[in-house]
Amino acid sequence: MHHLPRKAVVPAAGLGTRLLPATKAQPKEMLPLVDRPAIQYIIEEAVSAGLDDILVITGKSKWSIEDHFDKSFELEKHLESSGKIEELDLVRSISDLAELHYVRQGEPLGLGHAVSMAKQHISGEPFAVLLADDIMISDHPLLSGMMQLYGEQQCSVLALMEVPSQDISLYGCVSYEPTENAEIVRVTGIVEKPDPDEAPSNFAVIGRYIFTPEIFDCLDKTKPGRNGEIQLTDAISLLLKQQPIFGYVVKDGRFDVGTKIDYLTAIVELALVRDDLGPQFLAILTEIVSRFEDKPSARTPRERMSHAMSEIMRKLEHKPKSK
Ligand code: G1P
Repeated sequence: MHHLPRKAVVPAAGLGTRLLPATKAQPKEMLPLVDRPAIQYIIEEAVSAGLDDILVITGKSKWSIEDHFDKSFELEKHLESSGKIEELDLVRSISDLAELHYVRQGEPLGLGHAVSMAKQHISGEPFAVLLADDIMISDHPLLSGMMQLYGEQQCSVLALMEVPSQDISLYGCVSYEPTENAEIVRVTGIVEKPDPDEAPSNFAVIGRYIFTPEIFDCLDKTKPGRNGEIQLTDAISLLLKQQPIFGYVVKDGRFDVGTKIDYLTAIVELALVRDDLGPQFLAILTEIVSRFEDKPSARTPRERMSHAMSEIMRKLEHKPKSK
């Protein structure tokens, strides 16, 4: 009898160098997107797809992730005694979200190595992998669609997105055959971060996967690949020699919050769809945009610099004199 996956693995051991200095002393997964840390969106996404046993692969200096999802007795007591019931419910709902487990990746040997740390916990079941950098904001729930496809095919499923050719070298890239459903393809090959002129297609693997447990044997056999790291992509390539693998194609809604520009964009998107913040934030954003469109962008860099200098001089002139 076949079962749907109920366990998820969230690799969160990376150093977050692309967001320095913000990530110097705190994990990138804990940087807030509006009012909750990035990793909470990932856990909520897993739970809403029916995955409520979640193993987070952590590393050095990641203790705040565990603290965030733990019960916080002191804080709860304080909120209770001061009658802040709404906040109390909010804090409690975080620790009640899912059954969370943690394992540390002792050495940063690559994404494939991080996933291989989950072998014992997964113990022979199918499971999902959600990369903590990839935040999905869409009305179309990607992971639930992938779970449904797994249910139908009992095969591993990769999330895919078409990207411009110059960007393909940032991703795992697949060759594929179409199926009669435009959202589903059959994967025929996979390569990690190819040069654009060698890429088999423009279909990039984005950070959601469902695997059959055979991926662990493939990971065991995988030698260090690109950048000297054990690549998940190379293990998937081995798995493909044994079993069919399907791709589930999405058009948009993926934000790599490990980069500054996607981090900012995700915050704006997430704030705009919120009932409590959206309308007011949209008005503010519109005002800011029109201010920037009217003025600084119309100026040359030299004009912008001299404008900034005169603004500073003006502020200094109006500064109240200290006694
Ligand atoms: C990792 C994977 C890559 C995948 C990407 C999706 O790369 O190695 O195959 O396409 O995630 O975000 P990273 O972004 O860690 O360099």
